[in-house]
Amino acid sequence: MTDVIDGEAVAADIRDSLSGSIDRLNAEGIEPGLATVLMSDDPASETYVSMKQRDCEAVGIDGIHVEIDTDAPAAELYDTIEELNGDPGVHGILVQMPLVDGIDSRRVLRSIDPMKDVDGFHPENVGRLVAGNDRYRPCTPHGIQKLLEAYDIETEGADAVVIGRSNIVGKPLANLLLRKADDGNATVTVCHSRTHDLEEKTRSADIVVAAVGIPELVDAGMVREGATVIDVGVNRVDADTEKGYELVGDVDYEGVAEVAGAITPVPGGVGPMTRAMLLYNTVKAAGLQND
Ligand code: GUN
Repeated sequence: MTDVIDGEAVAADIRDSLSGSIDRLNAEGIEPGLATVLMSDDPASETYVSMKQRDCEAVGIDGIHVEIDTDAPAAELYDTIEELNGDPGVHGILVQMPLVDGIDSRRVLRSIDPMKDVDGFHPENVGRLVAGNDRYRPCTPHGIQKLLEAYDIETEGADAVVIGRSNIVGKPLANLLLRKADDGNATVTVCHSRTHDLEEKTRSADIVVAAVGIPELVDAGMVREGATVIDVGVNRVDADTEKGYELVGDVDYEGVAEVAGAITPVPGGVGPMTRAMLLYNTVKAAGLQND
């Protein structure tokens, strides 16, 4: 029987587990605060940010949202970040990616106070993660680790194939799975759009993570019987629905579910975990800034 990994349920457990820490912070007069910043017209980004704000409200995090006109000068974004860096009520800052064309996203990420960088994208935090001394684990990779843990999926000695080399998912996840730790110790192969014979790599894997943004790239023929398949993809494909599209992962769910030992659905798999781990990092940030 294939386990369908229930990201909504695991995310709800994570949110519940934060309440004790939030209560302790409240008792010291601190309400964890998260600022989200959007400078983009991308409807998917707008949806993600509003879901993150709703999550904050649900758990008792003070959510602040700043929207910057896409034709505003870059200075407006930098000024906003500087202001948030200096605001003691803001413990976490998330600048939603991708930014509108013409903005230097590396410079933007560098301008965030690393202590408030709850995405874990600042070069200082990336360096710490690679060195095995992380402060904030990026939310999607950390959420995937929590899903594997919740379903007792062993990473120790496992062959893991990560398809995708983004700074947001592929690279940090590969580093986390590789590390010498209870939730690591995997043998990690990172594949991408130029990989030759992808199928040969995935077919021998115990864990396959698809984070490449290609609808239904991973099919049943690419997966070993009993393997764990984690689908990070959220692709909008044209469809005869009310909205004119449907959301499809990077995995052919119906086909792969026939062979996999465990699989995440889209939606309801990785997505809720990304959001839950953002709350986790924000509470952690409030604690670190209170020390
Ligand atoms: N865009 C897609 N995923 C993410 C994320 O985890 N953080 C930010 N800031 N932008 C994203």
